[in-house]
Amino acid sequence: MFKRITGTKDILPEEVPSWQRIEQISRKIFTVYNYKEIRTPIIEDAALFNRSLGESTEIVQKQMFLINNKDETYALRPEGTASIVRAYIENNLDKITGVSKLYYTGPMFRLERPQKGRLRQFYHVGCEVIGSAGPDIDIEIISLADSLLKAYSIEGHKIKINSLGCRQDKQKLTVILEKGLKGKLDELCEDCKIRFARNILRVLDCKNEDCQDIVKKLGINDSYLCGECRGHFDKVKLGLDSLNVQCEVSPLLVRGLDYYTRTVFEIKHESLGAQDAIGAGGRYDNLVNELGGPNLGAIGFAFGVERLLLVSGFKFQVPGEKLVYLIALGEEAKPKSLQILADLRKQEIPCDINLNYDVKSLKSAMRKANDLNAGIVLIIGENELKKGVVALKDMVSGEQKEVRRQDLIKELMTNC
Ligand code: HAM
Repeated sequence: MFKRITGTKDILPEEVPSWQRIEQISRKIFTVYNYKEIRTPIIEDAALFNRSLGESTEIVQKQMFLINNKDETYALRPEGTASIVRAYIENNLDKITGVSKLYYTGPMFRLERPQKGRLRQFYHVGCEVIGSAGPDIDIEIISLADSLLKAYSIEGHKIKINSLGCRQDKQKLTVILEKGLKGKLDELCEDCKIRFARNILRVLDCKNEDCQDIVKKLGINDSYLCGECRGHFDKVKLGLDSLNVQCEVSPLLVRGLDYYTRTVFEIKHESLGAQDAIGAGGRYDNLVNELGGPNLGAIGFAFGVERLLLVSGFKFQVPGEKLVYLIALGEEAKPKSLQILADLRKQEIPCDINLNYDVKSLKSAMRKANDLNAGIVLIIGENELKKGVVALKDMVSGEQKEVRRQDLIKELMTNC
């Protein structure tokens, strides 16, 4: 027996309508905000992620699915931003479209320890705006995330925002933390001891209570922000306020990827427990340039689709089109039934047939129609064949009547 790889999931037919609904709503809202879809490959040069996310980040250190091919190393993409920036530069989108407003959906891969809401293959719905450094686009992006959540009918989430400042400000914050934590290394958790050396900003959002106490005592505030970055963040907060987007400023919010600068945000939902972020994003003003492109500001975010579905309780149901279910009673009814089926499909009427033609009991075939949620059942047996009719049963009202074969399509299209 083969089994799925740990941390992956089969999305079964009964779950698919929920996924389709998320995708449908996302496409609609992104289009309303004038974002265009982009699709990039699932495999990329691993060096792209090492360079973009940062050599010392957890994803690059421990979580990349790597594929060695001769002297090249590919990676299954752990996130979308780096690939989209690569595609933006490689396809000269800066010259073609100027500011690019792009959205994407698709699978991402991280070799994490699986738990509720944490998978090794998971899906992102996200967007990136490349080519603008001003605060207006931060406001648009965060209010777009809020609009999407409203459209998904998700409630009870919190948007937390912070500013990491520019490269120099991040360096200032790093120094403040190094000084503050140097004498307390022994008291930090094992992960934070490593973070202290590799990625000290991550100590700020460690979930360990002892680490949180130590960090609280450091009294970190926004003193590391330069005047320009502070002004940018003030405009973002003001803009979000004027649009009525509820946000909470969280001075300890940092992100696990090195590319972030200035505005960062995370959207949390308590009901998820430990993995409580349903989405996250922020500015990455140096990345386009660092990957060989022009010096352009950029910002984006991504939602984790599995987590959106967990908090929504899988309540989306796409109302399907009414299914017509044909029951052919006996082998003799089979040729005529197959003709009818073909005619219905030509008219794009969703339909299916009982494949077990020698059904002894009409009851069991009706049970199958019920299981399939059929709206209409058509029955053809010896009697119907002789009379040139079809028995039509409306599964909602329970009404049954005979319809002449030549009138069947018209009857289904006008009266059912
Ligand atoms: P991220 O925070 O790593 O950011 O991922 C975004 C969201 O993906 C998370 O908030 C979470 O909902 C979901 N997610 C992450 N890892 C997993 C996992 N192992 N299993 C299930 N869901 C997961 C990014 O990836 C950035 N690229 C977001 C961004 C776009 N920043 C700027 N533009």
